[in-house]
Amino acid sequence: MTRIYPGRPWAVAAFVAVAFGLPAFAAEPTPPGATSCSGCHAAGSAFGPLAGVPAERTEAALAAFRSGERPSTLMGRIAKGFDENQSRAIAQWWAGQEAGK
Ligand code: HEC
Repeated sequence: MTRIYPGRPWAVAAFVAVAFGLPAFAAEPTPPGATSCSGCHAAGSAFGPLAGVPAERTEAALAAFRSGERPSTLMGRIAKGFDENQSRAIAQWWAGQEAGK
């Protein structure tokens, strides 16, 4: 019983998405919270872009904001929302993004 679903292109699309889309995602997962930064840190933003910034720099900044060592208006509160591992994952993800986006 081999049937190709005539008139159901969505079934084919769903299959293609599952077969190819998800593994592609898994190759470079976006850590939770990473995209929340772009509202304030997009290219050309006042607070400085994060894309392409070396991970150590972003990670160190987040740690300093979290501990209060580096004074901040907003970032202290934001950085406290992530633990060390999450901050590292976010910093590494941003380092891997193409600068200028
Ligand atoms: C609501 C706006 C906002 C969001 C969202 C935000 N930031 Fe910030 N960020 C700021 C501001 C404002 C500063 C300047 C320090 C301060 O006053 O808090 C800053 C500073 C920074 C700096 C230091 C930049 C430099 O040039 O030294 C880093 C790194 C940073 N943010 C990372 C992040 C990361 C990573 C995220 C996402 C988890 C994030 N920010 C989300 C507003 C934001």
